[in-house]
Amino acid sequence: MSTNITFHQGSVNAEERATLLSQKGVTIWFTGLSASGKSTIACALEQHLLHLHKFTYRLDGDNIRFGLNKDLGFDEKSRNENIRRIGEVSKLFADSCCITLTAFISPYRADRAVARELHEKAGLAFVEVFVDAPLSVVEQRDPKGLYKKARAGEIKDFTGISAPYEAPEKPEVHIKTDECDVTEAVRRITEYLTKNKFI
Ligand code: PPS
Repeated sequence: MSTNITFHQGSVNAEERATLLSQKGVTIWFTGLSASGKSTIACALEQHLLHLHKFTYRLDGDNIRFGLNKDLGFDEKSRNENIRRIGEVSKLFADSCCITLTAFISPYRADRAVARELHEKAGLAFVEVFVDAPLSVVEQRDPKGLYKKARAGEIKDFTGISAPYEAPEKPEVHIKTDECDVTEAVRRITEYLTKNKFI
């Protein structure tokens, strides 16, 4: 616990920063089961936004666990901490006017709510995108062979098999990846960003 600390205010406020950089920060928070398509859609959206010359950056579950969160596993407490840290990091990115894309299973509603609240308290927008595919479909896809291992009992606490996934109740964008391809998913998220004046 840190004590005796004081927040140091910068000399440029959030509004001025957004005006000077001609871009508003926002976090686009992808959530969904493993193999639902979070990373695929986030990558395609990142590419699309970069081609529009937007400042954007993607934080991805697997990748972040190679570095910042390499000390965390997949038990409930570790996932809480994983998402707590990503909530904080994405808030900083969004505060820098970045269109921040996070692709984490983020299975617990309460953890996602904390991340949202953190952003909203800082005056930053938080757009939850539910990347939705039934367990039967993601299990069929199984690109990394993880569902097979989880069914065989070789991976414990596996989301959807031996650990919970709490689906969003009111996501800003709901994409059913068994009904909609990547191009259409990117189009729908871009449409949301345009309508809400983020791009
Ligand atoms: S979480 O729940 O948000 O903390 O998970 P996240 O940081 O997004 O990491 C998910 C990726 O880790 C791999 N993996 C597992 N996923 C779920 N449960 C268990 N037990 C597990 N073990 C390893 C898997 O590759 C996940 O990547 P995605 O892209 O979601 O398939």
